[in-house]
Amino acid sequence: MREYAADWNGNPQVHSGHTAARSQCQGRRNGAAAEGASLSVHDGEEKEIVGAGGAGGDSFGQTVSASERMAAENSQRAADSEIDRIILDRVACREFSNRVVPQHTIVEILRVARFAPSGANIQPWNIYALTGGPQERLSAALLDAHCNERAKHVSEYKYYSDVLPPPYRERRQEFGRIFYGSLGIHSGDAEARARQTAKNYVFFGAPVGLIVTIDRRLEAGSWLDLGMFVQNVLLAAAGRGLHSCPQETFAKYHTILRQHLSIPDEQMVVCGISIGYSDGGVSLRSMPRADIGEFAHFIGFES
Ligand SMILES: Cc1cc2nc3c(=O)[nH]c(=O)nc-3n(C[C@H](O)[C@H](O)[C@H](O)COP(=O)(O)O)c2cc1C
Repeated sequence: MREYAADWNGNPQVHSGHTAARSQCQGRRNGAAAEGASLSVHDGEEKEIVGAGGAGGDSFGQTVSASERMAAENSQRAADSEIDRIILDRVACREFSNRVVPQHTIVEILRVARFAPSGANIQPWNIYALTGGPQERLSAALLDAHCNERAKHVSEYKYYSDVLPPPYRERRQEFGRIFYGSLGIHSGDAEARARQTAKNYVFFGAPVGLIVTIDRRLEAGSWLDLGMFVQNVLLAAAGRGLHSCPQETFAKYHTILRQHLSIPDEQMVVCGISIGYSDGGVSLRSMPRADIGEFAHFIGFES
């Protein structure tokens, strides 16, 4: 699949961010990695995935056949509108090069992204954009916390419900098989998962990191608006040949982010977004999607 496994097997071509993430947590043996209380699927300590078994299972509740998947891939290739192409080409990138992304590019992305729709046009998004020294200092603090005091930190909001009903549970298990399988990380290897999680905190080596916050006095509807804005950021980046990764992992360390970025008390940290140029290894989608028959109901259409 991708070169992730090679990284963990000692590929010398990992860039500095990853090296930092790896060395920071090296030598920890069955410590906080095993004890960590995080429930995040990206934290490498997700019990349901750990118990999910080996690779090779059918995708998403066995409803997406190989031929359906192939048809979807063909339809991807056939996408003829620019926006379709950008949506279909965007994938979560976790291997960035250190190629600089200038401030004006980030400004352009945000200028476009702000045209996301929002209920009553309240535009509930806030962004902290980081690069260079401030980004490095933040990453160092986050890595330190991740390696040494993980259990002390908890997100201010819950991303996943404790008990995922079908088909979500199966989808999450599928994610775990594909994601950790592609990295060559065994389901029971908590230390390797913690090292992978550490890469989140160096923005996977991306030269720009965004931290996304929302006013805690707003309700769920505003989070819907925020999601649309975040997607716009990802797509506007993709339209400029950039790669990105949205990351909820940052929410766990909101106290550190608050301190480094002077985030006001009424703002809640929702997620981060790494933005940069791919290290070359990405860009094929590895995560499948359920067929539309699984989520769409057509009523009143003539067949
Ligand atoms: C709100 C949100 C938070 C996410 N958080 C993380 C994260 O913390 N770390 C990570 O590696 N990926 C994270 N992802 C990426 C997802 O794992 C990814 O989007 C999903 O597996 C589908 O893959 P694709 O984006 O390549 O199609 C997040 C995605 C979203 C939308």
